[in-house]
Amino acid sequence: MSWSIHHVNLQAHNVRHTTAFLRDMIGLSEGEWVYPPADEMGEIGHDADHVGYFGSGNRGIHVVLPIATFPRDNGFLHNPTLGGHVAITVPDVHQVASNLGKAGIPWSDAGTYAMRGVHQIYCYDPSWNVVEFNQVLETEDWPKGVHPWERNWGWGIHHVNLQAIDVRESVGFFTEMAGMSEGRWDAPKQMGDFSIDPAKLAILALGEGNRGVHLIEPDAGFAQRNGFAHNPSLGGHPAFWVKDLRTVMARLDAAGWPYSDAGVYAMPGMHQIYCLDPSANMLEINQYV
Ligand SMILES: [Fe+2]
Ligand SMILES: [Fe+2]
Repeated sequence: MSWSIHHVNLQAHNVRHTTAFLRDMIGLSEGEWVYPPADEMGEIGHDADHVGYFGSGNRGIHVVLPIATFPRDNGFLHNPTLGGHVAITVPDVHQVASNLGKAGIPWSDAGTYAMRGVHQIYCYDPSWNVVEFNQVLETEDWPKGVHPWERNWGWGIHHVNLQAIDVRESVGFFTEMAGMSEGRWDAPKQMGDFSIDPAKLAILALGEGNRGVHLIEPDAGFAQRNGFAHNPSLGGHPAFWVKDLRTVMARLDAAGWPYSDAGVYAMPGMHQIYCLDPSANMLEINQYV
């Protein structure tokens, strides 16, 4: 079974502020949301105060204002507008739903309620992260390579990091429910002060270069030991690859926006920085150097 990262959903206190930050500071390109036909559409409450979007074909980054009544409005158990989530595309979402059912894990079937031709389901992973699995119904051919659509964007989602209370249990969840496979962490020669013991940090790999989903045990001392202002082991984060990290850093410097320049410390040839968006979501921006 193959898979890809479809989108990352970020909760925003102020959608316009977070959207402006991602566009003007990080340099991401906004896109046009593609809605399903009216008879399939759920109660998604979209307007400029409730949703921002970066990417194409509904892939990429969704920025949303939480809606307290969203589960009730749509008949779900889960509230995907609260606390952000990662959405993983699989070839057969019914198979994932069947696996969840057999494992006694509750899931919400959203149908094609928000994005044209994308069947979405929601569940919690073992660490209570909301995870969306979806199937792109309108695509006949499974995409070749990792996220080929990102070539047109000039940026992309390198990885998504999820906090895992029990890393091995989380690995079991994604491999058994969605057929994702575990890879090996590719560490640089000069590594920062963190553990790559698979009980502390695991990777569900998409091709090479540590792309995919990272599962990490929260490490309270991570920032202090590595000399960072930010602790990327807490609460999860998306990591965006960009073509010119120096320009991103110059814009952050000019705005006086704090960030941690980690240099190349966790992945070979990968320069990483961390910052918070205006809604205090942890973000990583990186570039192969
Ligand atoms: Fe989503
Ligand atoms: Fe990361």
